[in-house]
Amino acid sequence: MSDLPSVSRWEVIKNRKRILQNPLPFHSENFERFGDSFRVKIGAPSGVIFTRDPLIIKHILQKNHKNYQKSKLQTEDLAKYIGKGLLTSNGEHWRVHRRMIQPAFHKKKLEGLLSIMNKAIESELEQIKPGHEIDVYRLMSDLAFQVVAQSLFSRADIRKRMVRLQEITESNQRMLIREMRQPYLNWWFRLSGKIEGHLKMAREGREILNGIIEERISSGLQKDDLLDMLLEARYEDGTPMPRQQLLDEVLILFTAGHETTANALSFSLFNIASNGEVQKKLHKEMAAVDLNSVAIPDLFKQLPYTKCCIEESLRLYPPAYVIDREAKDEDSIGGLELRKGSLVLMSVYELHRHTDFWSDAERFRPERFQEKLPKDYAQYYYPFGAGPRMCIGNNFAMYEMIITLYRILSRYRISTPLAEIEINPLISLKPKTVPIGFERI
Ligand code: HEM
Repeated sequence: MSDLPSVSRWEVIKNRKRILQNPLPFHSENFERFGDSFRVKIGAPSGVIFTRDPLIIKHILQKNHKNYQKSKLQTEDLAKYIGKGLLTSNGEHWRVHRRMIQPAFHKKKLEGLLSIMNKAIESELEQIKPGHEIDVYRLMSDLAFQVVAQSLFSRADIRKRMVRLQEITESNQRMLIREMRQPYLNWWFRLSGKIEGHLKMAREGREILNGIIEERISSGLQKDDLLDMLLEARYEDGTPMPRQQLLDEVLILFTAGHETTANALSFSLFNIASNGEVQKKLHKEMAAVDLNSVAIPDLFKQLPYTKCCIEESLRLYPPAYVIDREAKDEDSIGGLELRKGSLVLMSVYELHRHTDFWSDAERFRPERFQEKLPKDYAQYYYPFGAGPRMCIGNNFAMYEMIITLYRILSRYRISTPLAEIEINPLISLKPKTVPIGFERI
């Protein structure tokens, strides 16, 4: 790796303030300066390798995925708050549980969840008042949290407990970001009891979930929701998941499933509100569809342009804007020699805006997804990752997003006073605020 151009430790220190606020411009400048891969001399002795090279990304995520694992950032730092579930584990532990949980997310199984999802979305959207402007980021966060909660537990009477769980999840994420962005203060976070305070909240969150699971088991009711599927999943020897593991997996679904979807929906609404022609096309497409009489799995066929708008928003603003991996052993990728233990940050954000692969890359133009087949852009487009660790909830999220956009845009014309959206790249790529006005059609 000695031949990779590098950003020195001094440059990182010099730029630390702006990196803390938003690291993406710093990444962009270095990609412009050095090309598709470079090294930043921070952390480990060999530094961190940044890449937007589609060949390297494909190699790591798919071709030679066995040689790569998630970094400590997820398997230790995030895991201390949400446990060792799918998102935060590696190796055999991950493989066994992925095999068990995967069937719950198959398209056929999801069909059973769609009416629960639909009801949760309808109920959250009641907060919209025509003639008023609101920050839809807050609304979409509540919506996405409730959709996961209802899909897991199918109960409307647990709202208070879910609101507390949402507070805990969001507050612990904010703490984790402080730990990541200000590692030099970690001694203080520990000494002042801050970390212990958040770990205590994490335990409270687990108790809330455990209570709901206990109530399900003692009720003897069969609901066919995600919780039932997890309770019925079996290891190869026929035993069920131990309770602590079940709690880890449930917490992971909340963490991985709510913020990402809320971000994607908020960016989509902003993009649509700022593009009059796109919005007109959407209204036309939606006027010809009655969601109540469409078999929900046919939604994508019935609303193809809506789907393109979501895909284009995920291209410009991928919630999982970087994907990280650590090399388990040395490897060679097209002349690039990786040492064992190398940390690679794959910039999905940069690849999605790479002008070699996307024409008019900075522009929101959903039509591009109509003009090409998925196989034509698969190598340059990773909103849900790829390979065996690809997002387990991608279909779930796509259904949720298409139903939400339909429920909003079949009723309202939307607008925004913002000329540009301010982004906030934390664990996921978030918008700061998304003020949207609603007028009845
Ligand atoms: C727009 C919404 C979403 C986006 C953009 C997204 C993106 C991603 C990406 C990129 C990964 C792979 C990360 C990596 O390879 O390191 C991932 C993993 C994962 N996602 Fe999603 N996700 C979304 C929604 C959801 C939903 C709704 C759920 C569940 C209800 C979910 C559950 C998970 C889980 C459990 C993993 C870990 C899978 C594993 O490692 O086996 N995601 N997601």
